[in-house]
Amino acid sequence: MADVPTRRPYHIIIFGATGFTGQFVVEEVARCAAEGPGLSPLKWAVAGRSRQRLEEVLKQAAGRLSMPELRTDIEVIVADVSIEESLAIMCQQGVVILNCVGPYRFYGEPVVKACIENGAHYIDICGEPQFLECMQLQYHTKALDRGVYVIGSCGFDSIPADLGILYTQRQFKGTLTAVESFLKITSGPEGFSGHDATWQSAVYGFADSGSLRQLRKKFGYKPLPVVGAKVQKRGFVFFSKEIEQYAIPFMGSDPSVVKRTQRFLYEEEHQSPVQYSAYVGVGGLFSIVKLFCGGVLFWFMVKFGLGRKLLTTFPSLFSFGLFSKAGPTMKQIENTCFSLTFFGEGYSDGTDPSQGRPNAKICTQVIGAEPGYVATVSAMVQAAVTLLNELHSLPRRGGVYTPGAAFYKTSLIDRPP
Ligand SMILES: NC(=O)c1ccc[n+]([C@@H]2O[C@H](COP(=O)([O-])OP(=O)(O)OC[C@H]3O[C@@H](n4cnc5c(N)ncnc54)[C@H](OP(=O)(O)O)[C@@H]3O)[C@@H](O)[C@H]2O)c1
Repeated sequence: MADVPTRRPYHIIIFGATGFTGQFVVEEVARCAAEGPGLSPLKWAVAGRSRQRLEEVLKQAAGRLSMPELRTDIEVIVADVSIEESLAIMCQQGVVILNCVGPYRFYGEPVVKACIENGAHYIDICGEPQFLECMQLQYHTKALDRGVYVIGSCGFDSIPADLGILYTQRQFKGTLTAVESFLKITSGPEGFSGHDATWQSAVYGFADSGSLRQLRKKFGYKPLPVVGAKVQKRGFVFFSKEIEQYAIPFMGSDPSVVKRTQRFLYEEEHQSPVQYSAYVGVGGLFSIVKLFCGGVLFWFMVKFGLGRKLLTTFPSLFSFGLFSKAGPTMKQIENTCFSLTFFGEGYSDGTDPSQGRPNAKICTQVIGAEPGYVATVSAMVQAAVTLLNELHSLPRRGGVYTPGAAFYKTSLIDRPP
């Protein structure tokens, strides 16, 4: 087994630093630069396919953060997903690559492969279950052999949900058997929105949802045991007393990521698995009607090439302004925040989960700033800092993991989002 050399020119390389999210990551890494391994300053660089655009990003970050040294001290690496050699040269210079180039289904795999082959740990903010599970299936053994960690979904998808469940399990006095989470996003008068790349990931992800079922069969897993009373799934739309608004199942990667973590902890640590359902609040009756009309149109259109073309060409129109090519404004970002509330049930200490109904409940909450960009980049950078500082607390010296599986023995769970 090879190990990732820790003496490389850079602790962190931000790949895709010119992207909407990448630019936030640049600023967050600059702010966290004191948190390098052994409290030494972080050595970091930015990477992407245009030197000029990368220099412009550093210039803007230098101005916004009043850190003029970013313009002179931070190196630029030119690398393109379609040029294998450029990825190899990038990966050979970094201990951890923060991959912000998405949609990951189109651009992610060559970066994962280059990281493993060239001995760099990999972290992304992917929210696409197909990509995440496919990387686990194809690269776990190779990453393990090379002593490389590949840790996907380290953004809002899915650190709050995945680590939130682990936190809830730890707080529960007994055996926690089921958790429902409710996401609530609160915004100012301007509303909130997301950038085009996330919309594209959703369009192509839904279009290809059949392949996820095929992929899962290839793992050959036995179903996870259901411990305690089986929880009934809620309907497609229901009024949630918990968050006092209508709610629907959350369509992001959280259920997939949490389930993979629960499986890992069951198989590796013999922990009792938790049944998990994720919901998101959508507001009042008018929002439900709008969502229903938009949802039917979306489901219909993603099935056809022309429909997908229209959806991706006019994101703002077809998402009712929820996604746009320009992305959210700074005002929208500043005035948005989220809460993710977990309602758990289980069996108190000394009671047998195989007998009778659950007899104990728990409620926990993760709260944070704007989820798509602020909370996401904070989670991604804190994951990278944790990997650098607490490498020996990660499992097995390499492999492809969810955040919960990778970081369950580290301090990441206690860090603010
Ligand atoms: N998990 C979460 O909560 C969360 C939150 C936010 C974003 N995301 C995900 O993060 C990803 C990025 O989103 P975004 O909004 O930042 O996208 P974006 O603004 O479109 O940025 C994409 C980045 O990829 C780069 N790129 C594209 N093709 C490339 C290639 N061939 N070689 C090298 N770089 C290439 C672009 O570089 P150029 O400047 O050269 O075009 C740009 O830096 C998406 O998959 C999105 O879904 C996830």
